Amino acid sequence: METRISPSILNCDFSDLKGELNKIRNADWVHVDVMDNHFVPNLSLGLPVVESIVGVSPIPVDCHLMIENPDVWAPKYAEAGAKSVTFHAEAATAPLRLARELRKLNTRAGIALRPATPIEPYLDILDEFDMILIMTVEPGFGGQKFISSMMNKLRKTREAVDKTGLDVWIQVDGGISRQTIEIAAEAGADTFVAGSAVYAAEDAYAEVEQLRNLAKQHHHS
Ligand code: DX5
Ligand code: ZN
Repeated sequence: METRISPSILNCDFSDLKGELNKIRNADWVHVDVMDNHFVPNLSLGLPVVESIVGVSPIPVDCHLMIENPDVWAPKYAEAGAKSVTFHAEAATAPLRLARELRKLNTRAGIALRPATPIEPYLDILDEFDMILIMTVEPGFGGQKFISSMMNKLRKTREAVDKTGLDVWIQVDGGISRQTIEIAAEAGADTFVAGSAVYAAEDAYAEVEQLRNLAKQHHHS
């Protein structure tokens, strides 16, 4: 099992995206949070900005869509060049059709679950997805506190993925820091989003290394 770090740029300096992306060039992915002020009570950025990010990012783009009607919008983010597109289970009308469409566009298809959404309905269809995103905060804002009661859902997901033998990545997003990454790694996450922990650090590059090392040391076995 590989360990991947995907820093969220939600709280970076948006007036210098190129410079901010360059700071995390040692990360595996860059996590781009798209919010529409409907699915979540916040507005971040959309398709044209994602297109620009794809054009200058030294690492592949991991798009997290916190938007309504992903059935219509998610494929456009794949076409814009995001190599991974994650939509919310609560927002999609036809999640399987959408995941298949994303894969046809040569993008990794991810499905995200809000904290109160159970994993059970998805356990029989894990093969339809390349990544499951277990939210560890209510989506909408950076800098919130990690919800540790999500570790049970994470363990269940890891168990099911291992049982199928599929290479489905398990991502955690929300409140990941040096203090919380270990328990998330132990519970079975392999792909870690960290926003404020990385961009509030004095040296974002060094923080990415730090987080990766901690996650590796506490690898689920
Ligand atoms: C929350 C977003 C996260 C967030 C992470 O709605 O999906 O990606 O920006 O930020 P931190 O790491 O500060 O919780
Ligand atoms: Zn996110």
